[in-house]
Amino acid sequence: MPKQIFMTRRITSRAEEMLRAVGYEVTVSTKDGVLTRDELKTALAQVPYDAVAALLTDTIDADMIAVMPASVKIIANYAVGYNNIDVPAAHARGVVVTNTPNVLTATVAEHTVALILTLASRTAEGDRFIREGKFVGWDPLLLLGTDIKGKTLGLVGAGRIGSEVAGIVHKGFGMNVVYCDVKQNEALEALCGAKFYATHEEVLKVADVVSIHVPLLPTTHHLINAERLALMKKSAILVNTSRGLVVDEIALVAALKSGTIRGAALDVFEFEPKVTPELLTLPNVVVNPHLASATEETRTKMAEMVATNIIETLEGRTAPNAVA
Ligand code: GLV
Ligand code: GLV
Repeated sequence: MPKQIFMTRRITSRAEEMLRAVGYEVTVSTKDGVLTRDELKTALAQVPYDAVAALLTDTIDADMIAVMPASVKIIANYAVGYNNIDVPAAHARGVVVTNTPNVLTATVAEHTVALILTLASRTAEGDRFIREGKFVGWDPLLLLGTDIKGKTLGLVGAGRIGSEVAGIVHKGFGMNVVYCDVKQNEALEALCGAKFYATHEEVLKVADVVSIHVPLLPTTHHLINAERLALMKKSAILVNTSRGLVVDEIALVAALKSGTIRGAALDVFEFEPKVTPELLTLPNVVVNPHLASATEETRTKMAEMVATNIIETLEGRTAPNAVA
């Protein structure tokens, strides 16, 4: 019997093509949207699947893993972040979990830089201004932004993506870089003279642009809260392309309204896909629907990675992107 693969939603066709090319049977959820918990449970119970290709919007907790057919050998997540999967519970059943690192690093970093520039130069506000029919002529005081050249980027988390962002803004805009991470990053320091701080507080105090690049973990949940926002410069901007739950969104709204910080650009949200309604009433906020890795090239490479991880595992070899 051919190996059976379940994909919880259609992704770039490359994954299906690769899986079918090696003779696997691929079932793709036909729902146009995220499967509910019950729908996912039902879908998984239909066939003794060998592999599941999952998305960051699928909650694969211990309960879900318990109802999966015993035949499942791998859950291949179509994302670099894998906070949606209970990895210890999967491992306890001998199920491999994989993610899609590296291929999206440059894309997410480019998107992050786009958000920084959008906030600093107020391009989203300018776009809205024209669309609302408000442009009546050049105005010396209209929508004054802020330069970023020579200012300080503060990284909350300095892994692959944070380092890539630092490299771009250091080379391109002469930004100084400071960072806090669970470990010191010598490569980042060599790349752009980044200064390591042992605490996030020190980074928040000195940065003009704070960019978040930590995974979602119990230790990073609400890492950016009211107290830490209060440490930031009044002129500083906050950018989040990691996970929404890293920022206390209610506290962020308060900080933006009171002028505690200058602005925020968010690609991810605490209550995703819901966006705290007040955020949308604030002009100094830029919002994107979780798009940071969304380029054709990168989403195709991520799909290839999902297929490769599944094939390697099911052929008895080691998945290249197994998470620990
Ligand atoms: C997207 O958010 C990802 O983790 O790949
Ligand atoms: C994720 O890819 C990271 O290391 O930032």
